[in-house]
Amino acid sequence: MRYVITGASRGIGLEFVQQLLRRGDTVEAGVRSPEGARRLEPLARESGNRLRIHALDVESDASIRSFAADVCASPVDVLINNAGVIGLWCALTDVDYADMARTFAINALGPLRVTSALLPALRRGAVRKVAHVSSNMGSVTNNTDGGAYAYRMSKAALNMGVRTLANDLRAEGFVTVALHPGWVQTDMGGPQATLPAPESVRGLLRLIDGMGPEHSGRFFDYQGAELPW
Ligand SMILES: NC(=O)c1ccc[n+]([C@@H]2O[C@H](COP(=O)([O-])OP(=O)(O)OC[C@H]3O[C@@H](n4cnc5c(N)ncnc54)[C@H](OP(=O)(O)O)[C@@H]3O)[C@@H](O)[C@H]2O)c1
Repeated sequence: MRYVITGASRGIGLEFVQQLLRRGDTVEAGVRSPEGARRLEPLARESGNRLRIHALDVESDASIRSFAADVCASPVDVLINNAGVIGLWCALTDVDYADMARTFAINALGPLRVTSALLPALRRGAVRKVAHVSSNMGSVTNNTDGGAYAYRMSKAALNMGVRTLANDLRAEGFVTVALHPGWVQTDMGGPQATLPAPESVRGLLRLIDGMGPEHSGRFFDYQGAELPW
């Protein structure tokens, strides 16, 4: 199967690449900058041409267009919209609206732009799956805390985008979900995070492999438990 992963330079995205290569899949990896490819380059050399590295900044239309032109030459089976930023962790009186707009552009608009640009290749793919790495912090129902406006609101907007995409694309047989990876030991998760990235990604891949039409437009954690919007 041919996968596209955004934000593949480190953290959860890099772990997706490693696990997919180990099981024999082909991966088109989007990284924001060439430095981001340093950890991918040895994997690409050893992959027998099953890993290709592309420049991709999900904030930039031009970058997404050029990425899509590269990737859409062949069918894409599964797109994993993983790239994301945490934004500034501000209290109400300190909200930085420029940072918030950028966090929205990356976390909420980026996945929609990438999905839309890759649709022609996804339509030619075998399984038509689009998975979004969202966050429980984007759940309105589960929110009992204050602060972190940029991250929470951007992931809630992403979740609405996922549900809307699922409705739009259901008739074509697409399956589109939002996934919470757990509190994962990455740069974003920080030193207190409880879950090793390999365990999170094993769970996420199990879900993506098993997802069918009945799962589309829904929100799950890495262990398969359904989350409320
Ligand atoms: N870690 C957690 O506990 C946790 C919990 C819930 C949800 N998540 C979600 O999981 C996803 C991955 O997070 P992570 O923990 O792996 O974070 P991370 O270690 O900070 O990695 C983030 C990745 O996103 C990429 N990225 C950031 N801005 C980008 C842009 N404009 N265009 C393209 N790529 C961009 C980064 O690229 P560079 O290397 O170039 O910066 C990096 O590859 C995110 O969507 C995050 O919100 C994480």
